[in-house]
Amino acid sequence: MQLTWLGHSCVLLTGSKKVLIDPFIEGGSVQGVDPDIVAVTHGHNDHMGETVALNKKTVAITEIAKYLKTKGVPVESMNIGGTIIVDGVSFTMTAAMHSSFLEEAGVGFSAGAAAGFVIGMDGVKVYHAGDTALFSDMKLIGELYHPDIALLPIGGRYTMGIAEAMIAANFIGAKTVIPIHYNTWEKIIADAMSFKKAIERTTDIKVQVLKSGESIQTGS
Ligand code: NI
Ligand code: MN
Repeated sequence: MQLTWLGHSCVLLTGSKKVLIDPFIEGGSVQGVDPDIVAVTHGHNDHMGETVALNKKTVAITEIAKYLKTKGVPVESMNIGGTIIVDGVSFTMTAAMHSSFLEEAGVGFSAGAAAGFVIGMDGVKVYHAGDTALFSDMKLIGELYHPDIALLPIGGRYTMGIAEAMIAANFIGAKTVIPIHYNTWEKIIADAMSFKKAIERTTDIKVQVLKSGESIQTGS
């Protein structure tokens, strides 16, 4: 499987299927990606992004799925704690400590809870934490699902910062950690290299700092 960080929280998994998570790129577009499945962690604009325009099979929490259905988007509705298999790809929806909200034409409405995903494809498990604070039940995500790769926000202000993400990485226990949700805007500037150095000095975890558009190959 190939994992590509497209920027911010947007990650593309390419294997037996193409799975696109949180299809938002600041100042760009994911229209060229053509995924089989889209997964959305929560309702904020910087995660919903182009979900409606893509109009692909979309995995989302019940409230967002209902909204997408009214837009004609094919949905796979689920909720936190559940696991579904979509076209051979497994999606476990995990808790996230964050808010969620949908906005349309200046009107905002509830989008249910914010979430994360553990996605399993071709024998590789990837945990995308979504937007979240550090919470100790991340240990359970590690114990239950044993993700190979963890995508963790490090930008601070709206999510964990570097100090919290270091503890999160230890809780989850994935061999590889990839920082996301940083440096998109001035308010979420973070030094990913200092995060990498600090983790790699004290643990066996490897931190892959990717440039936007950069990929890593993983799995057998
Ligand atoms: Ni958010
Ligand atoms: Mn966000």
